[in-house]
Amino acid sequence: MNDDDATGRGAEKAPRVVDGPSGTRLAVEALRAGDVVAIPTETVYGLAADATNELAIAKIFAVKGRPTNHPLIVHIGSADQLDDWAVDISDHAGALADAFWPGPMTLLVRRSVKAIDAVTGGRDTVGLRVPAHPVALELLNEFGGGVAAPSANRFGRVSPTTAAHVVADLGSDISLVLDGGPCSVGVESTIIDVSGETAVVLRPGGLSLEMISEVLGFRPVVEQPSAAVGESRAPGTLAMHYAPKARIVIASAETLADSLAVAVRDGGGKVGLLSPAYVRDVPEEIVVLEPAGGPENYAEVLYARLRQADRLGLTVLVCIPPTPDGRGLAVLDRLQRAAAAGLSTQD
Ligand code: TXA
Ligand code: MG
Repeated sequence: MNDDDATGRGAEKAPRVVDGPSGTRLAVEALRAGDVVAIPTETVYGLAADATNELAIAKIFAVKGRPTNHPLIVHIGSADQLDDWAVDISDHAGALADAFWPGPMTLLVRRSVKAIDAVTGGRDTVGLRVPAHPVALELLNEFGGGVAAPSANRFGRVSPTTAAHVVADLGSDISLVLDGGPCSVGVESTIIDVSGETAVVLRPGGLSLEMISEVLGFRPVVEQPSAAVGESRAPGTLAMHYAPKARIVIASAETLADSLAVAVRDGGGKVGLLSPAYVRDVPEEIVVLEPAGGPENYAEVLYARLRQADRLGLTVLVCIPPTPDGRGLAVLDRLQRAAAAGLSTQD
């Protein structure tokens, strides 16, 4: 999926992976030059460009292969910049920004004129986030402006949580990857629509519902994603997203034996197992992945395990999800989307 016209680069050159202060400086220069660059955040790696540069934004969509009406999150260096990008900021928005930025939370607010159509997909809201990653914050503060960045994966695939994942996914379609180590959260930010009277969670993520509820004083509604294109209020949170190549089957401890037996019978290939803890008496032909642990750890390792499943050539991955508290809700959400993708024709 090289798009040399849009990215202005040859197809064979691997991206340069840089780190440290000199790496950050190179990344800032690339942003100023209107180029795209992969950057670390605490959630997942992002594919970044100057949020005010329409041509640079177009490169993000070309590299990702993503429909241009799917809006991008604008990353800012501090909550003080909220006023630059948003108008009519609600009390809920202010309270959440105060409590959780920098952090794995994206707020949808009414946009100011600074948020261009190329970023918002023509919507009247903009998604804003202050990431809690020292390298990302250093980059944002040196750059000074807003940085638009979706996750640095191809459209519909699993988000990258290491610089190596980015290189494997995007290869020569980008020229620079800023390496900030493995992402500590491991799932994308929680998206909260605070553009109206109330607060609605459009995507469960790194910030838990419990923590949000504590600040709001009520438990926000979580909008269920739709399998149909165009129906979700956050385009790109479609049920088919976050898909590995292996078919995902969700099981419980009680149904595991049956699920594995059915997967072996129908899978026609290698069947794997991912669970919070080691399971006893698993049939010998099952490829048992290293356990994912409790909700927080499960979130941290989820995407790496899904990639490992693909590398091992598994045709089916049977997953026992973590408990749906903390980041466990986001893990369950991603597993359900991946399971739905397996039923569609996406590959
Ligand atoms: O953790 C994250 O959020 C990562 C890191 C890089 O910050 N970013 C990320 O971006 O996951 P992306 O583009 O892969 O997912 C953001 C989702 C998309 O589904 C997009 O449609 C939705 O947020 N979104 C962004 N701005 C929106 C808006 N104004 N209205 C509705 N949905 C919006
Ligand atoms: Mg994404």
